[in-house]
Amino acid sequence: MITVIGSLKGGSGKSTVTFNLAVWLAMADVKVQLIDIDPQATLTDVGDVRMEEGFDPPLKVLDKSALTPERLAAADETLIDVGTSDMEAMRRALQYCDRVVVPVPPSQADIWSTQRYIHLIASAERAKAPTVFGFINRGDTHHAVRETDEAAAALVSLPGIKFIKARLGQRTVFRRSFSEGLAVFELEPRGKAAKEFLSLAAALYPYLVS
Ligand SMILES: Nc1ncnc2c1ncn2[C@@H]1O[C@H](COP(=O)(O)OP(=O)(O)O)[C@@H](O)[C@H]1O
Ligand SMILES: [Mg+2]
Repeated sequence: MITVIGSLKGGSGKSTVTFNLAVWLAMADVKVQLIDIDPQATLTDVGDVRMEEGFDPPLKVLDKSALTPERLAAADETLIDVGTSDMEAMRRALQYCDRVVVPVPPSQADIWSTQRYIHLIASAERAKAPTVFGFINRGDTHHAVRETDEAAAALVSLPGIKFIKARLGQRTVFRRSFSEGLAVFELEPRGKAAKEFLSLAAALYPYLVS
């Protein structure tokens, strides 16, 4: 399956989620390939950190030249991390993928931009549009704050997107994940971020867990 992790906004957590999912899939012995089509190349950088540190399994990250049907067919699971500064590559990825996963921070602006992104995906030149999934990333971890639930409710009601209940909170270990080249469930296996992330992974890859 070919999964694009995308959104129209920087900082929503695309590279973070892609990297953590990649480690998880590799640990599940899935033949996974990673394609970084964001010129910022965050995923490539974190893959390099992981490789330099010698962590197992290593992750090899391909560039946009791998966006060909032959190359995409070379793995069981492909994850494509997209940015918005290369719209041509984004459109190409949207043409080939089976689904798009959108991390949505809990703000009105992010709900609006998700709506625009759904329209952009629907306008991709292909017979059948890919399925779009959305989940809340960087959710508020204080119960008193309602914004996150309100954003989740707004996301549920957006046409054209399937809502995933599993939610990632705003947690510092996600930042460490990048700097150390380790997934959050490797860094803090018993932490809340790990628990939340593993629920998300199970929701996205149910066939691997049951
Ligand atoms: N759930 C989270 N909690 C805390 N920090 C996060 C979370 N998700 C992402 N971040 C941090 O936010 C920044 C932007 O994330 P990134 O994955 O690079 O976004 P994108 O790829 O969409 O631009 C990074 O420093 C990352 O560590
Ligand atoms: Mg990124």
